[in-house]
Amino acid sequence: MEHQMLDYYAKDLIKKAGIKIRHSFSSELAIESKSDANDLVTNIDKEIEQYFIHHIRKDYPGHLILGEEGFGDNISALDGYVWMLDPIDGTMNFIHQQRNFAISLGIYKDGVGVLGYIYDVIHNELYSAQKGHGAYLNDEPIPVLESTTISEAIIGLSPNWIIPNRRIDNEGLIKLVQDVRGIRSYGSAALELAYVATGRIDAYISLRLSPWDIAGGVVIAQEVGAVATNLNGQPLKFLEQDTFLVARKSIHETLLSNYISLK
Ligand code: IPD
Ligand code: CA
Ligand code: CA
Ligand code: CA
Repeated sequence: MEHQMLDYYAKDLIKKAGIKIRHSFSSELAIESKSDANDLVTNIDKEIEQYFIHHIRKDYPGHLILGEEGFGDNISALDGYVWMLDPIDGTMNFIHQQRNFAISLGIYKDGVGVLGYIYDVIHNELYSAQKGHGAYLNDEPIPVLESTTISEAIIGLSPNWIIPNRRIDNEGLIKLVQDVRGIRSYGSAALELAYVATGRIDAYISLRLSPWDIAGGVVIAQEVGAVATNLNGQPLKFLEQDTFLVARKSIHETLLSNYISLK
């Protein structure tokens, strides 16, 4: 396997970062707001990102890093190897709940996701995939997803997008709420991707995500046959924020054509 050594290396780094996060629970967090009062960041988000970057720059000096907290590189193209890292995805949950958050990491080569990781630190569950070699939850292979129908589906969707907003025709999403079996909102895009990959939910929709939220999860979800695009049905670019849909193949198109209409 072409990326076996890189896979061992990334997993080791992620596990060690997870230990650091677990240790942080015994000390007081320094919490700040970013773009608005509910857009939170802590000293641990920053420390974990710096921990990854320190090691990656030392051991893979030719690789670039795109991290949420801005300690990495300014990336304008996806040539070569790019690590897309969210040190803590679900920071609000991390602060308020000390659970329901994850480390999210995707490693891309010339724009193609070759390795993907989502580490649910609290449950010690590492979701991982190497492109073309299947997806795993810890050491267990994750089975390829079977088909489902809209009426039997559970969809990951934030209530923020169902109330009237300037990005999407919310009538379509209200109809979706009525037609599906259930709606869930976990507050961590990475975990919602992991849940799609493991069949716990059948799709996840967002109006705005960044490359580091989805880079790892997309590699994992695609390995089990899920389809990931933006909400126009176009391929993801991983260079800027975009809308996002990941779903079992059997309902991806129906979700786009019958329920999602962007303004
Ligand atoms: C956020 C989470 C959340 C999603 C937001 C993301 P963060 O990431 O994934 O579920 O709705 O759009 O920004 O800030 O906790 O890493
Ligand atoms: Ca954030
Ligand atoms: Ca995130
Ligand atoms: Ca984050």
